[in-house]
Amino acid sequence: MTHKILIIDDDSSLRRVLEFNLQEEGYEIITAASGEEGVRLFVETGPALVITDMKMPGMDGMQVLAAIKEHSPETLVIIITAFGAVEAAVAAMKAGAHDYITKPFNRDALRLTVARALRFSGLARENRRLKDELADKDAFRHIIGTSAAMAGVFTVIRKVADTEATVLITGESGTGKELVARAIHAGSSRKNGPFLAINCAAIPRDLLESELFGHVKGAFTGAVKDKEGRFRQAEGGTLFLDEVGELPLELQPKLLRTLQEKSIEPVGGSMTVKLDVRVVAATNLDIDRALAAGSFREDLYYRLAVVPLHLPPLRERKDDIPLLLKYFCNRHGAQQVSFSRDALALLTDYSWPGNVRELENLVERLLILRDSDTITAADLPDKLRGTTQSGTTVVNLPHEGYSLEQLEREVVVAALERNAWNQTAAARFLRIPRHTLIYRMEKYGIVPPEKNP
Ligand SMILES: Nc1ncnc2c1ncn2[C@@H]1O[C@H](COP(=O)(O)OP(=O)(O)OP(=O)(O)O)[C@@H](O)[C@H]1O
Ligand SMILES: [Mg+2]
Repeated sequence: MTHKILIIDDDSSLRRVLEFNLQEEGYEIITAASGEEGVRLFVETGPALVITDMKMPGMDGMQVLAAIKEHSPETLVIIITAFGAVEAAVAAMKAGAHDYITKPFNRDALRLTVARALRFSGLARENRRLKDELADKDAFRHIIGTSAAMAGVFTVIRKVADTEATVLITGESGTGKELVARAIHAGSSRKNGPFLAINCAAIPRDLLESELFGHVKGAFTGAVKDKEGRFRQAEGGTLFLDEVGELPLELQPKLLRTLQEKSIEPVGGSMTVKLDVRVVAATNLDIDRALAAGSFREDLYYRLAVVPLHLPPLRERKDDIPLLLKYFCNRHGAQQVSFSRDALALLTDYSWPGNVRELENLVERLLILRDSDTITAADLPDKLRGTTQSGTTVVNLPHEGYSLEQLEREVVVAALERNAWNQTAAARFLRIPRHTLIYRMEKYGIVPPEKNP
């Protein structure tokens, strides 16, 4: 591949000498007669290397160097200085020049300097590529899953990680929302900055505002000194707003403004503080319902969900179960442990309402309690065996017969009652989609108690 080199010099004879010598080496040469023209051509042509004179009328070599570094910090710049002008060369190197050549120049020295610089930039690029690859692997290493559903998740993470986009991760409890948030951070160029998590549901309402945005001394009783707040602590990094669906309605406009303006106003302060923080949020709430109910602002939702990322529940990616079992055994130093065929069947059949977290906890328990390195069905807790096999009969049918519709109505009501009338949980309990449950509720005129006239 031929390297493109941009030569900037106001002296036309010197330009020609440089051009001639480097063309002979097989490089593609672009020339500019002034700093201004040079910067313009740099942007237009994107050369691999820039050679610029120092002293030029108008924009001089230092200014050219600064403009190029600003636009493309990785481009190598070689400066031309008069023989003996060591100080100028040192200043330029400090400002980011890669090397210098003195004029009048020696042909071999010129060729050597250019070849070395280009080799360096190639190595630097290769190094960067390898590092990026490693970072990518590292960020993903802890997320286990080869199912199609997880492949989709990985694709989104990979695409979105190294952008500034706000990501809203949704998924049931224990599906790995925080794990994914960390992977997004680790896969971004902010990876050396902080990753801070704040659980919006766990902090008392009246403390949450100052916890997030900070406060100034005296803002309220008890505010004895300034407090930075999580947003500022996350400067240069990523702030993970967990359970953002629980953010009190009165704080939602302030979060929206923070995201839009990339600045915050500490409580009780009159100044705004600029921020460089990437936000990743998560919720296990049925966010559509919160939106419909008006407990979550639509404008904030759209601002947060620039890229929505849904984590599938474990029961929808059962292919991953054997892999996860193996992974957690290994993590607990029990590589030799395996599961019998019937144990694996039960583990795969189970609906895992607590998702990966539940599976992880179960593995930990099984490893502690096991008598041998093979875990069999008998080692598994009853809940995995389902109600019928554990001896309880679900229905007692009367001799005279019974209406299936009546039975269905009773089962739906019982499931709702058992799950505190939470439709998502009840639907999961009945192993039916939520819309099917709602359809059944409408069909039988089932309404939650508080809505009963
Ligand atoms: N795909 C996965 N591979 C490996 N471990 C996982 C995976 N998903 C989740 N885990 C593990 O399961 C546990 C729960 O994950 P995490 O805390 O990220 O879930 P969550 O979605 O944030 O749950 P919650 O909504 O309850 O906060 C963690 O220990 C995590 O490491
Ligand atoms: Mg979590």
